[in-house]
Amino acid sequence: MIVSPSLLSADFARLGHDVEMVNASAASWMHCDVMDGVFVPNISFGFPVIKAISKISTKPLDVHLMIVNPQNYISQVRDCGAAIMNVHQESCVHLHRTIQAIKAAGMKAAVTLNPSTPVSTLEDIIGELDMVLLMSVNPGFGGQKFIEGTVAKVRRLRALIDNSGSTALIQVDGGINASTAPLVAAAGADSVVAGSAVFAAPDPKAVIAELAAIGSRK
Ligand code: DX5
Ligand code: ZN
Repeated sequence: MIVSPSLLSADFARLGHDVEMVNASAASWMHCDVMDGVFVPNISFGFPVIKAISKISTKPLDVHLMIVNPQNYISQVRDCGAAIMNVHQESCVHLHRTIQAIKAAGMKAAVTLNPSTPVSTLEDIIGELDMVLLMSVNPGFGGQKFIEGTVAKVRRLRALIDNSGSTALIQVDGGINASTAPLVAAAGADSVVAGSAVFAAPDPKAVIAELAAIGSRK
């Protein structure tokens, strides 16, 4: 399983320390949650912080933008070191154009769906995507409870991807821990994001290793 620990739950007073912990772990990526207080009812951190993280991260940065008008920030996201730029379907009127621009800027293009947004909305763009992130909580906060219906949603997305010949990965974000990760892996997820389950644990690296060891297609 591709594990992307969410730095939203890191200790921001010791951010470098927590990034080094992820560097030394079995994680594949480093998940950075950007919130603007408009698209979601919370504000997290922005580009200067991501740039600082990129200077010490040995893992590719997986940047999840919970903001309005993400298409206005593509070059800034690239310039702060993102490998994956992830935009919400709900915040992109011209999603196809935005995806092309992200790829033209040299990044992998990912799209996130809120819990209420159906998988079917991606039917006409799935072939263009490197990854789809299914939110298993309403975005904006760490530490929320996993929405059980996400497991069936992962299955529907798995079928859409396999039937279309797309190579998009499936990632799940929100309420992921050692109990919920095997459920989404069995349904066809390739990657999980985990924030509080990692950073609130006495041994964060052990939690990351446990999640990484869960079988998936990747
Ligand atoms: C929520 C963020 C998540 C968050 C997950 O809006 O997108 O990445 O950090 O936190 P946990 O794993 O605690 O649910
Ligand atoms: Zn996230």
